[in-house]
Amino acid sequence: MNMIIEKAAITTRSAKETYAVGKILGKIITSPLVIAMHGELGVGKTVLVKGAACGLGVSETVRSPTFTLMATYEGRLPLYHFDFYRLTAESELEPLGLDEYLEGDGPVFIEWADKFVSFLPSERLDLNLAYDRTAGNTDRRILTFFPHGEAYCALLEKLLNALEHNCKGELDGE
Ligand SMILES: Nc1ncnc2c1ncn2[C@@H]1O[C@H](COP(=O)(O)OP(=O)(O)O)[C@@H](O)[C@H]1O
Ligand SMILES: [Mg+2]
Repeated sequence: MNMIIEKAAITTRSAKETYAVGKILGKIITSPLVIAMHGELGVGKTVLVKGAACGLGVSETVRSPTFTLMATYEGRLPLYHFDFYRLTAESELEPLGLDEYLEGDGPVFIEWADKFVSFLPSERLDLNLAYDRTAGNTDRRILTFFPHGEAYCALLEKLLNALEHNCKGELDGE
């Protein structure tokens, strides 16, 4: 039976777990793609990108690009890390050359991507991060993935399989 996964939610209980999800995602990335993240300040977007960078074999320390707006890291594939938080107008986005990176040779991770959705390709993986407010534990986060396009449905399926099989190893601190 062929099924389409329209969305998938994962709850993490610590920064380490969100990092591990990012790392597994980074490991399965084999081609340029777009991960569009949104969610409140301090929810864990940068933590996830740090994990993805690790999974992509980046050795440099990934820092929040809130002030630099974008950063490039060399890994198995180059990782392009954007943060739209401080951008208020489309005119501020244009000089960043987003379009060229979107057609580039490595994955593009964008924090606060929802601020300029019209500048994103229609095919992408949206990732919402949210605080789990029902839980007393403030370290719980709900990561919800929404794939747009066949390639991203396949990517999500691969991620879910990898999480199922690798999660324990990653979380045990491999
Ligand atoms: N489950 C979790 N996932 C991610 N980060 C968490 C989690 N629990 C606690 N944290 C903490 O929340 C903060 C997330 O910060 P950061 O990734 O910079 O947020 P954002 O980029 O979304 O503004 C870090 O201090 C991290 O240690
Ligand atoms: Mg951030």
